[in-house]
Amino acid sequence: MLEAVERRIGQLIDELEDEDARELYARLPAGKRLRARLILTIAGSGPSAVETAAVVEMIHAASLLHDDVIDDAFVRRGRPSINATFGNKTAIMFGDVLYSKAFHELVDIDRRVARIVSNAVVQLSLGERRDILLSEGFNPDRDAYLHMIYQKTASLIEASSEGAAILAGKRPEPYRTYGRNLGIAFQMIDDLLDITQSSETLGKPAMHDYEEGKTTLPYIDLYEELDEEGRARLVALHGRPLRPEEQAWIVGEMERLGVLERCRQEARELVEEAIALMRNEGEEGLERIALKMIERDY
Ligand code: IPE
Ligand code: IPE
Ligand code: MG
Ligand code: MG
Ligand code: MG
Repeated sequence: MLEAVERRIGQLIDELEDEDARELYARLPAGKRLRARLILTIAGSGPSAVETAAVVEMIHAASLLHDDVIDDAFVRRGRPSINATFGNKTAIMFGDVLYSKAFHELVDIDRRVARIVSNAVVQLSLGERRDILLSEGFNPDRDAYLHMIYQKTASLIEASSEGAAILAGKRPEPYRTYGRNLGIAFQMIDDLLDITQSSETLGKPAMHDYEEGKTTLPYIDLYEELDEEGRARLVALHGRPLRPEEQAWIVGEMERLGVLERCRQEARELVEEAIALMRNEGEEGLERIALKMIERDY
């Protein structure tokens, strides 16, 4: 099913008639294609579902190109990132090429779906900006974190799911909620994996979020659990390169206080709610996607 999406993205890149864009796209491996999978699982693999999936994956790729500039990240999908190889200027502009080509195609998609997807990109952008703002200091505010990850990540996954339901003539509400829960849990797991996995497994930098100033859920929970001395030590390590023993202290404290397991549990609860909704709709494929998402290690 996904091959049709890969082919369509390839065609859209070819339509740019630009050798440089073709070369840059060739340097970007495909990724997990979660959003495309969701769309095709909900809406089948007819032309409008494939088109929507291709557009959404191009938007997602554009957001990653910009994200790696924002996060000073030099590995993406197991390869040197575009910013690492060609610099920030190229990553920003190739991101813009992908965004604008995706929007050019969006014009011809079902109007309701186009509105939902384009609004999600507004939210995604506001979320990435909010992520930058929150990383300027140590952020201990869970609600601010949750809202930011809804915007930067869940909005596009929610839109994929709701938009696909509309394409398929299904009742959109349960699919919207499914996508939102899945998306929030997806970012929570991404933030957890940053701490628990190696760069090799992730195909992107590990233990990088805190150095970049991102106080993700495990850090917020750890802060809540620590005594005053521990808190001061944690905050002193925020937003700067960490030595191996400093990383080990953080992970050790998270393990000692059960923080990582609690974060995983929080994500699991969101996913279980999502699964229950889809069971109601008889959507076994979507149950499987949600389960795999929570159990993934990259
Ligand atoms: C990475 O998204 C950015 C986040 C929202 C955490 P994915 O984990 O879906 O990235 P790819 O497409 O599989 O590389
Ligand atoms: C970015 O979140 C999510 C986007 C909307 C691009 P992250 O910064 O955590 O994503 P990764 O870990 O670099 O993939
Ligand atoms: Mg990043
Ligand atoms: Mg980021
Ligand atoms: Mg991450």
